[in-house]
Amino acid sequence: MNDQALRDLLASLSLEEKAGQLAQIPLTVCTGSMSDPTGPLMELHLTPEQVPLCGSLICVEPGNAEVFARVIREMTDKHPHHIPPVLMRDMIHGTRTIFPIPLAMGCTFDEQLAERMARVTAAESAPTGVHATFAPMVDVVRDPRWGRVMESPGEAPALCAAMGAAMVRGFRGEGLDKPGTQATCVKHYAAYGLCEAGQEYSPIDVSRAELYNVYLPPFRAALDAGCDMVMSSFEAVDRIPCVCNRWLLRDVLRDWWGSDAMTISDYADVGQLLFHGLCDELKDAAALCLEAGMDMDMMSAAYNRFLPDLVREGRVSEALLDEACLRVLQLKNRLGLFEDPLRGASPEAQAEALARSEHREAALQAALRSCVLLKNEGVLPLKSGVRLALVGDHADERNLLGGWAGDGVPAETECLREALSRDERIVLTSPEEAEVILYAVGEPAAETGEASSKAHPCLTDAQMAEWRRLHALGKPVVAVVFAGRPLMMADALPLCEAMLYAWFPGSMGAEAIRRLIMGDASPSGHLSMTMPRCVGQIPIHHDRLTTARPQSEQRFTNRYLDVPSTPLFPFGFGLSYTDFALEDAALSAPVLRPDGEAAVEVTLRNTGACHGETVVQLYARMKQGSILRPERQLIGWKRVALDAGESLRVSLPVTQDMLALYDARRTLLPPRGDCLLAVGTDSTAPWSLTLRCDA
Ligand code: GLC
Repeated sequence: MNDQALRDLLASLSLEEKAGQLAQIPLTVCTGSMSDPTGPLMELHLTPEQVPLCGSLICVEPGNAEVFARVIREMTDKHPHHIPPVLMRDMIHGTRTIFPIPLAMGCTFDEQLAERMARVTAAESAPTGVHATFAPMVDVVRDPRWGRVMESPGEAPALCAAMGAAMVRGFRGEGLDKPGTQATCVKHYAAYGLCEAGQEYSPIDVSRAELYNVYLPPFRAALDAGCDMVMSSFEAVDRIPCVCNRWLLRDVLRDWWGSDAMTISDYADVGQLLFHGLCDELKDAAALCLEAGMDMDMMSAAYNRFLPDLVREGRVSEALLDEACLRVLQLKNRLGLFEDPLRGASPEAQAEALARSEHREAALQAALRSCVLLKNEGVLPLKSGVRLALVGDHADERNLLGGWAGDGVPAETECLREALSRDERIVLTSPEEAEVILYAVGEPAAETGEASSKAHPCLTDAQMAEWRRLHALGKPVVAVVFAGRPLMMADALPLCEAMLYAWFPGSMGAEAIRRLIMGDASPSGHLSMTMPRCVGQIPIHHDRLTTARPQSEQRFTNRYLDVPSTPLFPFGFGLSYTDFALEDAALSAPVLRPDGEAAVEVTLRNTGACHGETVVQLYARMKQGSILRPERQLIGWKRVALDAGESLRVSLPVTQDMLALYDARRTLLPPRGDCLLAVGTDSTAPWSLTLRCDA
């Protein structure tokens, strides 16, 4: 449909029909089935006549092309203008083939892999009839107590931006008019990751400077990559809930960024204004949110019930309704829904997409690159013929998928015992008979994701007691840890000779771990979040702002009396079975000008005995400026694979854009003066180069 036809369609709609387009209701209303919602169950007070007018469906039930197609067809048929609903679902790290959780994908530092993950997810989701995914999640996360850190690419804004943009490209493929693609919705706008004390839905306070420099850039990157929608966060900025925050929804999104992306509330968040005490009536909440720039109301049924009257009463302008409605229609048009509401979905297409072996291969490659080897005292890789005891509550656990696992079926997922039993080089035996003990331990998948905050993100007492018992046997212990967040591992670390942090590695996780521990592949994940020593250090991240009193032996410095200031493992850390050396770091040019580019060039040499991959990371720090800057900041990286003895000259570009900052008034402060640069394989790399930034 061309734009004029779309506008003609809009002009022909009644107030009820326009307001209906702005409502997202659950698919269950149409199917009568019951599924666990992703928020509180609620009464939507929808009349049977209102249902087909609703513009969108949120679906939490398993992908089912037959059911979804029936509902989409029925709603389209019943709509007076035959406008199809847009069907949205949370496809975060896979549809049926589940990839490692996004935090683990962050550990790959591999945008191409993230793009591939999204491409595969879309290829499996689109044939079920789903049109759009509530992804990518790009909240910058620094608090492991918060269960949703698993959904984010991690603590570094640049990494969140790059991975988020890559996912948008992957989901959207060659364009939404092509089959096997999904529209995208970047979330949660903004600063959700700041949840006070890591507690879900707790309030936050954030400065403008932090928003501009830390929390907003990943959203802008996703939008620049073509993201279709933006979901508001449950938080408030400047004490104004994001769902009705005009500054975020209009000033920043529309006026500053020039984005035309559709905005959508989070689950029931329009109605939640009543709980915040901003409104007495749902009707007032509808007016407030629409005026602020919120286009679609997810799961409050406030817009469709009250906007028509609000317009008739002159309390809300029809132009606002039109503006929001047009964006919904434009999204549907981009998806080609007016021509084919199903976009090729069918049970056959669904079955065909699920059977593709290349999807499992892609998930395996992602799992291989996302596990992080934190410790290895010569025990890994295991030797062929090893007598191995496999113990721990995750040894037989099939749910290695983690939270938000779409249609992933734990019962169909291989557990570690099955994967290891298949390997002829391993003799599984009891701890008493074994040469090496593999302790598979961690948190349950159900304790990750939304509403999974923990004041003690730690292993349980029983898990620790078992670990001590195994350690006391006096044999090497290899720990494989499954978790949706950095758990506090300081007490456990001395109880093992090797630790592989596997996160939730997805459908192919057990196979990936088998290959890694047997040395068929070398671990190459690098931490996307700092691992604290203890809860009291949280939040701890590599890019905190400078302190004027860095830690020293003196009393009045930035330190704790009871623990070191350093983390257990720094951001970017990850071991390999081989060794890498970085040599001859040099700048391509000594001076960087506003439109110019300089590069840090460094030779990476594999000095060990086997093939391996690592992530070369570039950190920067400006020596002068008019506002505080991070102590160091990740500005670039490259994942490199090298055979034993091989070397490669790696080039990491630097531009002034990467170093520029905004002040609280949104004035862009270009970098001026000396910039220290460090290149290494984790965030403790020493400063080795100085680049001069000139006007
Ligand atoms: C939630 C989440 C959001 C999700 C939505 C729909 O409560 O915060 O991430 O996309 O509901 O399921």
